[in-house]
Amino acid sequence: MKDYLRVLSYAGDKKPLMTKAILFLTLSVLFSVVPFFIVSLVLNRFLGEGTPSLPWLLSMAAGIFVCLLLKNQLNGMGLDASHQLAYHTLAGMRRRVADKMLKISMGDVQAYGKGAAKKNFVENIEEMELILAHAIPEGFANLFTFGIVLLTMFVVDWRMALAALATIILGMIPVMFMIVDGFKRMHSWYAANEKMTSTIIEYISGMEVIKVFGQQSRSFKKYSDATDHYRNETITWYKDSFIYMTSYVILLPAALLVMLPVGIWLYLGGTLALSTFVLSLLLGMSVGIPAMRLINFIPQFPQLKFKSARIEGMFEIPDMPEGMKPAPARHDVIFDNVTFAYGDTDIIKNLSLSMPENSVTALIGESGAGKSTLAKLIMRFWDVREGAVKIGGTDIRDIKSDSLMDKISYVSQDNFLFNATVMENIRFAKPNATDEEVVEMAKLAQCHEFIQEMTNGYHTIVGSSGDKLSGGQKQRICIARAMLKNAPVIILDEATSFADPENEDKIQEALSRLIAGKTVIIVAHRLSTIIDADNIVLLENGRVAGQGKHAELIAHSPLYKKLWDAHMESMDWDIGGTEHA
Ligand SMILES: Nc1ncnc2c1ncn2[C@@H]1O[C@H](COP(=O)(O)OP(=O)(O)OP(=O)(O)O)[C@@H](O)[C@H]1O
Ligand SMILES: [Mg+2]
Repeated sequence: MKDYLRVLSYAGDKKPLMTKAILFLTLSVLFSVVPFFIVSLVLNRFLGEGTPSLPWLLSMAAGIFVCLLLKNQLNGMGLDASHQLAYHTLAGMRRRVADKMLKISMGDVQAYGKGAAKKNFVENIEEMELILAHAIPEGFANLFTFGIVLLTMFVVDWRMALAALATIILGMIPVMFMIVDGFKRMHSWYAANEKMTSTIIEYISGMEVIKVFGQQSRSFKKYSDATDHYRNETITWYKDSFIYMTSYVILLPAALLVMLPVGIWLYLGGTLALSTFVLSLLLGMSVGIPAMRLINFIPQFPQLKFKSARIEGMFEIPDMPEGMKPAPARHDVIFDNVTFAYGDTDIIKNLSLSMPENSVTALIGESGAGKSTLAKLIMRFWDVREGAVKIGGTDIRDIKSDSLMDKISYVSQDNFLFNATVMENIRFAKPNATDEEVVEMAKLAQCHEFIQEMTNGYHTIVGSSGDKLSGGQKQRICIARAMLKNAPVIILDEATSFADPENEDKIQEALSRLIAGKTVIIVAHRLSTIIDADNIVLLENGRVAGQGKHAELIAHSPLYKKLWDAHMESMDWDIGGTEHA
């Protein structure tokens, strides 16, 4: 119950809908019981004073009709309130999740694999809808009705009431067994279910790879093992519960089984009036239905607790401490003796580096040297372990996160597009940009042409994470997006790696216009693209292994020379390739 109220608090000021829902639903169930009283009234009239008049009978029939109408009407109103409450609660929860994601470090975000995240934030929340909108409010309604009818039965005749309770109590025994057993299994069942979901998502995401390597691949084995495991868990649970289910389904509604012989015995003994007998029997029959429904109700609370705990577990991850300062006026970026590790091993080691305003700094180095990591540290996706990253002389941890993000444009190595139109994807960087502005940026980023050739031009949906586009096309749209943002610090991580030389030249030209007066950080594999950079920083295992202009590095850094020669050789290969084509 405590958990229920806590979960409902996500609904904010809509929480009072709970009382409304329970009240309407209880009244609705009560109106479904009232006809039993009317029927007993009619029967008693027949038994007592003889045949009742037709108008009286008709008024009784009308009474039943009105009860049924009210029952449906109140049920609808109750469900309406409970659904509103459920959706407000879940929307509140979803907002909290989205909000939290922005506040924790990327490491904590990544710790939730795609599959686990889907299970947690989509399915768990979805399943809570059923619990909040139906199971719990209807459960309360049935509980109250059960209580009220039972009380009435005790008032009518306590002996008959006890007789009716006998089968319910007997029926509750297997229910208890089933619930206790269910608690024990719940965790492993959910674990199996979660594992299956995440494996399926991984399987689908990795389809291209899996197709090439065939069904013998480990992924397929992993997939089928997870499905089998889940199937076995579910089937054994069902099998073991079967005996309990059959017992209570037979016992609970079987009030007549005990009431009838007890009633007849009391009636023959002369201590029970026929009319009381009839009324008790009818009430006894009506109490079975809410009792049955209550079975469904009891396990809802632990389920809700379990599911909400999964989601709320995320809320307990500490936020990255939020800075208070506004963004500084200057935009030079400084790494001051920075050490950083994703896990235990240091990836960036005591690194100091200055990236002045109005200049282009190129980060180069072998794969895994830490180039992208450095770029991400500037955006505070992670906090450094030692030292500080500063923008305009201010530690980025002291800057308000919104202000920090306003200052940075970023094109990542893994270009991400939303499943929306091209227009919306570019405009994401500046929501109030006009269509003309978007098109202008697209032209500069060399994507206008291919966008126009698409079926709906700028209004073509790019598919989930942009999978309807080629790698190079995605990259260029991301560049257009970053250009539109027009922030003073620009970070490009392998932004043009997919572009062909002609396009690349054009993009470089557009970028050079855009980057005037800004702090630009370019990560590049193709060294020819950064040959003119103001400062080329050569990274090796998270350390600066040399820096300077191209000519200086060629002269003094053997590692740079080696990388440069390798690059020139690959260029020759490219040219050779084109010649043959
Ligand atoms: N999210 C992460 N969690 C754990 N380790 C990571 C993560 N991202 C990168 N690493 C590790 O950090 C090291 C540096 O990675 P980084 O992506 O910075 O390299 P890079 O220089 O950009 O390489 P590339 O040229 O291949 O893009 C690598 O050893 C990598 O395995
Ligand atoms: Mg990288």
